[in-house]
Amino acid sequence: MLGIILAGGNGTRLMPLTQVTNKHLLPIYNKPMIFYPIELLKDMGLQNIILTTGKEFGGDFTDLLGDGSRFGVKFTYKVQEGALGIAHALSLTEDIVNNESMLVILGDNIFLFDKDERARIKEVVKSFTKNPNGAVIFLKEVEDANRFGVAELGDNNTIKNIEEKPQEPKSKLAVTGLYLYDNTVFKKIRGLKPSKRGELEITGVNNAYIKEGSLRYHIIKGEWADAGTFDSLHRANILARKNAEETPVPGA
Ligand code: DAU
Repeated sequence: MLGIILAGGNGTRLMPLTQVTNKHLLPIYNKPMIFYPIELLKDMGLQNIILTTGKEFGGDFTDLLGDGSRFGVKFTYKVQEGALGIAHALSLTEDIVNNESMLVILGDNIFLFDKDERARIKEVVKSFTKNPNGAVIFLKEVEDANRFGVAELGDNNTIKNIEEKPQEPKSKLAVTGLYLYDNTVFKKIRGLKPSKRGELEITGVNNAYIKEGSLRYHIIKGEWADAGTFDSLHRANILARKNAEETPVPGA
C-alpha cells in the first residue's frame, strides 16, 4: 500500500497567510502543518509516500522534507499544475501507484488519536491492505457539517449518499480527509465532471463507490481539524498544543 498526501490548492481562504507560501507549510504549534499527515501515514506503517503539491512552492517542500529519510519514509513528489480539485490531484499519482491500494490524506487534516484509537485505525488499514476492495472513509460528528462533505447513513452500516457542503446537512457526520481506496479509484476519477467550483471533487469519487455498493465507513472519536480557515487553523493549533508529545520534532 502507498501513502498519498495531497498538498496542493491555493489556500484562498487563508489569504494573505498563503500569499507567499503554501498552506501546508504554515505552523501548527511547533511543526509545519505537513508534518502531521506525514507522521500519521508513518504511524500507519506506510513508508512509501507520494506528495502532490502546486508548482509555485514545490521547491520549499523539497527543501523542508528532502527525500524523507529524516522522517524514516521515502517521498516521491508530483506537481499539480493548477488547483483543479482533490480528485484531480489524486489522479496524478496513478503511474506510481500502479496496482497497489492507497491510504490518502489531505495535507490540511490534523487527526489527534489516542493510543487505542490509533491501534484501531491501524487495524482498519491493515485489513484493507490484505483485502483491498472498494473504499473506506472516516467520519467525524461535527456541529458545522455544512463546511464539509456530509454522509447520510442508510440501513445495515451503509452510506446512502454524500453531499459536498450542503446548506441543510442530512447528518452531523463530516467526511474527513482520510481515505482508503482500491485501485479502481483512478477509473472512477476519469468518470467525473468538474463541479460548480470547477474542481474534480473527492465526494464524486466516494459517491461512485456508494453506487457500486463498496464504500464502507468508520466513525472516529478523537479530535480532528481541517486547517483550511482562520478559525479551524487556530483550533488546530490549540489541539496540537494540548496533545504535543515529548518526541523530538524532525529538524528541531
Ligand atoms: O477536510 C475535509 C473536507 O475536505 C471534506 O469534508 C470535503 O468533502 C472535501 O471536499 C474537502 O473540502 P475542502 O473544501 O476543505 O477542501 P480544500 O479545497 O480546502 O482542499 C483540501 C486539501 O486538498 C488541501 O489542503 C490540499 C488538497 N488539494 C485541494 C485542491 C482543491 C489539492 O491537493 N489540490 C487541489 O486542487
